[in-house]
Amino acid sequence: MYPFRDGSYAPKNGWYVAAFCHEIGNPLLSRWILNQPVVLYRKGDGTAVAVEGRCPHRHFPLGESLRVGDAIQCGYHGITFGADGKCTFVPSQSTVPGVYAIKTYPVVERGLWAWIWPGDPEKADEGLIPTLDEIGYNLPGMIPEAFYSMNVQGRYQLLNDNLLDLSHLGYLHQTSIGTGDDTATPEVRDLSSRRLSSRRYMYDTPQPPLHHDRSDYDGLVDRVSGMDFYFPGFHAGVGEHKFPRNHHRAGELISASRIWHAVTPSTHKSCNYFFAMSAPSREDLDHAKGALISVLDEDKFATEEIEKIITSLDVVPPELMLKSDATAVQGRRILQAMMDAE
Ligand code: FES
Ligand SMILES: [Fe+2]
Repeated sequence: MYPFRDGSYAPKNGWYVAAFCHEIGNPLLSRWILNQPVVLYRKGDGTAVAVEGRCPHRHFPLGESLRVGDAIQCGYHGITFGADGKCTFVPSQSTVPGVYAIKTYPVVERGLWAWIWPGDPEKADEGLIPTLDEIGYNLPGMIPEAFYSMNVQGRYQLLNDNLLDLSHLGYLHQTSIGTGDDTATPEVRDLSSRRLSSRRYMYDTPQPPLHHDRSDYDGLVDRVSGMDFYFPGFHAGVGEHKFPRNHHRAGELISASRIWHAVTPSTHKSCNYFFAMSAPSREDLDHAKGALISVLDEDKFATEEIEKIITSLDVVPPELMLKSDATAVQGRRILQAMMDAE
């Protein structure tokens, strides 16, 4: 499906964010992941688990069912499944048919995120999860925090495309986090086996509107803005402002943040979106949390409106590409290759 080849939806063999760790607790949490209903919860010993969210009897949602100890008792006819997926009890008969089981998924908690592997469990190598060091989670003096977990009514790649092409900052987010230089500055790209990076280095550039009241200095800055896309669904962003070269405090840091977006396919035409960031102070975090919700709403709006258009068209015409699409195109190719390999 668009923008991938017909029949291609999403890579299954990859770690995706299923939830922020803090979202998983004793209550059953229902979430669609790669077009499958999944239930997440924490066992009595605190371990996070993810199991199939559909009862194999009559397809009742197990996320709307009852938790009995570490097991789930289906809310329809009471068939019960342990956290290992095995059926333990069928109330209407004395034996448990061998076919009665639900799928379980590998889950790993790292940093703020609970990662799930929707594909072949044999291939679920934890070494493929971005490390906290490489995403800048452990930077001294920076406080990481989970901000928003939301469902977006648009296919996941529209949001990946958005994050792979930050030239939109100068227009979609012109009243908040972007300036014309975000769009006009060419990016520097770098590809490794696990991530695709892009950076924009802007010199003597105005600060975006959201930064105007954040320090005593309101003048031109040197800025770095960029994103590292860890396949298949995690984007680690970098934002830095420094005093410009001709200023007497040249090179000194004015502000810094790390921004983490996770995009996980939900249904064919919707996705789960997790936004987190770190900043040097509690005050910076509180300010960002209040200010950035409208920025995320702009991305959500763009994604959902594009989804409406491409869903309604009889035929989606080919996009007219620009140089600034190179990173997004490369990101799509990498995901397509992952799907082809499966
Ligand atoms: S649908 Fe789950 S027990 Fe019948
Ligand atoms: Fe955006």
